[in-house]
Amino acid sequence: MSANRPAAVVVLAAGEGTRMKSKTPKVLHDICGRSLVGHVVTAARELDPEHLVVVIGHAAEQVRGHLTERYAGTRTAFQAEQNGTGHAVRIALEELGQSVTGTVVVVCGDTPLLSGGTLTALAATHADDGNAVTVLTAEVPDSTGYGRIVRDSVSGAVTAIVEHKDASEDQRAIREINSGVFAFDGQLLTDALGKVRTDNSQGEEYLTDVLGILREAGHRVGASVAADHREILGINNRVQLAEARGLLNARLLERAMLAGVTVVDPASVQVDATVVFEPDSIVHPGTQLLGATRLAEGAEVGPNTRLTDTVVGAGARVDNAVADRAEIGDGASVGPFAYLRPGTRLGVKAKAGTYVEMKNATIGEGTKVPHLSYVGDATIGDFSNIGAASVFVNYDGEAKHHTTIGSHCKTGSDNMFVAPVTVGDGAYTAAGSVITKDVPAGSLAVARGQQRNIEGWVARKRPGSAAAQAAAAASDKASVEN
Ligand code: UD1
Ligand code: CA
Repeated sequence: MSANRPAAVVVLAAGEGTRMKSKTPKVLHDICGRSLVGHVVTAARELDPEHLVVVIGHAAEQVRGHLTERYAGTRTAFQAEQNGTGHAVRIALEELGQSVTGTVVVVCGDTPLLSGGTLTALAATHADDGNAVTVLTAEVPDSTGYGRIVRDSVSGAVTAIVEHKDASEDQRAIREINSGVFAFDGQLLTDALGKVRTDNSQGEEYLTDVLGILREAGHRVGASVAADHREILGINNRVQLAEARGLLNARLLERAMLAGVTVVDPASVQVDATVVFEPDSIVHPGTQLLGATRLAEGAEVGPNTRLTDTVVGAGARVDNAVADRAEIGDGASVGPFAYLRPGTRLGVKAKAGTYVEMKNATIGEGTKVPHLSYVGDATIGDFSNIGAASVFVNYDGEAKHHTTIGSHCKTGSDNMFVAPVTVGDGAYTAAGSVITKDVPAGSLAVARGQQRNIEGWVARKRPGSAAAQAAAAASDKASVEN
């Protein structure tokens, strides 16, 4: 539990985000497996607030649906018209009921790099210094567009935040900017918001005006400078979206590496924030690890691999593969060039080899499907071997059917298992068989045409051909040798 537990965190996410040029609302754009607002909500939750309120407006139904589905426990407040950040916070406080006592933290929904640690540090500074408001600021290389932090030239205290559009030449030269993140005393915030005016260049209620109002009333106004200005990067267009994705990806990989994961070429690896690594796992170049993917100790994945919601067991090897909602057992081997679709479960030391596709298939311990095969809707026992170029024929054009193959089976190359069908333990099947009937345990099933050799056919039907000459030479040689 956080020592400085806020009464509420308010996330501002009502704006449209026109510069994204998208049908998707800005805050629902994804980086590293979470929406922009999802990253902010995740960071905010680290503060363990009593209430978490997201102010929504543009595409409200869509944003509310996303929050309800993915971030249960968040509340929403509806801001019909975007009359400014101060107005948005006022609506959030009304949603909570008039008297919010304790700390209220305000963040923007489009700053996905903001960390829970930075928010926690801000809340701590706010409490320790006994401030009425504490603003998170940052020194940025280019302050264009941001609100400027104006400080008293003698004491260095923050006196005001001036929006870019309202700033003088001198003020525009200031490189310390408002990140849009604040901690407030809830009661003083409520009172001050009632006094915010709209006589500015945008005709909006600015949240930033609360600082000046509180200061003039004699309250303590503090500022906390972010250690890394990149954390407060706000996303307004897709160039910034890509920039944020790159920064977050690098941060996630750095954390993994420091925890004992080898990432051979971080620049070519993409990882979601939800991926879990165990120490001594190895990630080769060109790999995407997405969703709830998990690499156990010593698992080695890549190069050129995409894993979505896939669990890779300890010491397993996945090479040039695509897997979606698959479970790969300890010491199992996948690829090169394999596709594991949802519901694939590879047992301990099992193998899905080269040009192998699997779907809804449970493969037992030590069982191998080494080459050029499709295994769909199947259960295979332990220590069986499936011959090259086999197909589990699961679809009759209307419904899917299941194939069961036992343990210690050896099925021949180029088999078709026409489901529903069962092959018993220890059974063999001949190469080229189309298995349509159950095979009892321990038997050999042969299901193919008989071979017929028509002697002398080439000499009679293709006289004078190279084939006929080669055949004649072979027969001469055989008669000399005999
Ligand atoms: C705001 C700050 C500025 C700061 C910058 C940091 C104000 C007046 N200005 O400017 O000092 O440097 O953020 O990125 O606070 N929103 C609503 N409802 C509204 C208006 C905005 O929910 O009526 C939301 C937006 O969706 C967005 C956030 O508030 O998530 C910030 O709004 P935006 O219009 O982007 O403010 P900036 O001009 O960037
Ligand atoms: Ca903004």
